[in-house]
Amino acid sequence: MTTFEPGFLWGAATSSYQIEGAVAEDGRGPSIWDTFCAAPGKVDNGDTGAVAADHYHRYPEDVAIMRELGLGAYRFSVAWPRVQPLGTGKAEQRGLDFYRRLVDTLLDNDIQPWPTLYHWDLPQSLEDAGGWPERDTALRFAEYAQIVHEALADRVTHWTTLNEPWCSAFLGHATGRHAPGRQEPEAALRAAHHLLLGHGLAARAMPGAQVGVTLNLTHVTPVSSARQDRDAARRIDGLQNRIFLDPVLLAAYPQDVLDDLAHISDFGHVQDEDLKTIAAPIDFLGVNYYSPMLVGHGTASGPSAYVGSEHVEHADGGRSRTSIGWEIDPQGLSDLLVRLHRDYPAIPLYITENGAAFDDEKHDAGRISYLEGHVLACAEAVAAGVQLKGYFAWSLLDNFEWSFGYAQRFGLVHIDYETQRRTLKDSARWYAGVIRRSGL
Ligand code: FCB
Repeated sequence: MTTFEPGFLWGAATSSYQIEGAVAEDGRGPSIWDTFCAAPGKVDNGDTGAVAADHYHRYPEDVAIMRELGLGAYRFSVAWPRVQPLGTGKAEQRGLDFYRRLVDTLLDNDIQPWPTLYHWDLPQSLEDAGGWPERDTALRFAEYAQIVHEALADRVTHWTTLNEPWCSAFLGHATGRHAPGRQEPEAALRAAHHLLLGHGLAARAMPGAQVGVTLNLTHVTPVSSARQDRDAARRIDGLQNRIFLDPVLLAAYPQDVLDDLAHISDFGHVQDEDLKTIAAPIDFLGVNYYSPMLVGHGTASGPSAYVGSEHVEHADGGRSRTSIGWEIDPQGLSDLLVRLHRDYPAIPLYITENGAAFDDEKHDAGRISYLEGHVLACAEAVAAGVQLKGYFAWSLLDNFEWSFGYAQRFGLVHIDYETQRRTLKDSARWYAGVIRRSGL
């Protein structure tokens, strides 16, 4: 039997646009994802988050499910366009009231609320003014963070500023696979910097809070020990992991990454005090892990998410894959955690997302096996001395999986999108057992 220390936090995660629906209710303004979904061909099957899992209306039922599972914490995100429909100025009280009701219901059920302030739904009017590539968006984000913090600080202790700024910056502005759908490598780098700056400014704007940021990190290995392949792995590690980790935790961009990117940007958008702001002290780092990466030297074609690394090819590691096509490798998670502990030893870690898409509906043996392997990988990392404090499964509910629409199901709980009926999958019952025993 593998058990975790008492106090190890077991949770599940979701995000606003993926589950809430109710996009035009109670004064919510449009977000870049509403716009992106409305553009033909951007999202599979023309799906949108307009209704999603209707969580905005069904949250009491969803919290009852969380209680049934025994969750210690629930990670959700606050939709900026509900709180500030135009991304600036006076708060929309009805938006704040929704999150207050949700938080109160969680607390009544002994579930810790873990809000994330930005899980990709930027108010459209801020995009119209230039979006994350513009410095002003970072300032607006800090203002918004302050509003939400003031409204909920009496009942929320742990705050996450951003979810996966890599996706916002590079999928949003380099490949265009995510909203706002731009393909401008230089703008992607400015977006990355202003997301980081927004994180630091927001951390400062929430006095007394326990603050963290969630990054999507991965374990990168080269296809061979040849110099060019090792260099490809270094580049991808730089552009996926260190470009965010180093500014936040070491107050500097990695020099090799700046060198790799020199032909795209001179980083003239970085102002004097920015790195100091970005490295504002934080209390925890959220790690989202799904799959490892195997890379080698090659000639990629088409717009790459890894701007400046066009001579890198992603290789097949020969492992089995989930239905979304991501390779399954729990060892990659323990390797990643041990590496984070080695390179950034001071910061406590939480897995803020980990999970799998499978088509197997309610009898989801594949998901159970995925989760079991990764929970074991966490235990291995803890045994190796890593300060890992909790684990959040992605996701509580089936939901709108971004450009894949509703076809990919990540939930522990099945959603019938016709009736909005919730049904616990086998994995939900299995996870409830893990939580009860705090282990496997
Ligand atoms: C992560 C996102 C989350 C979800 C999972 C599958 O990149 O943070 O919203 O889409 O992937």
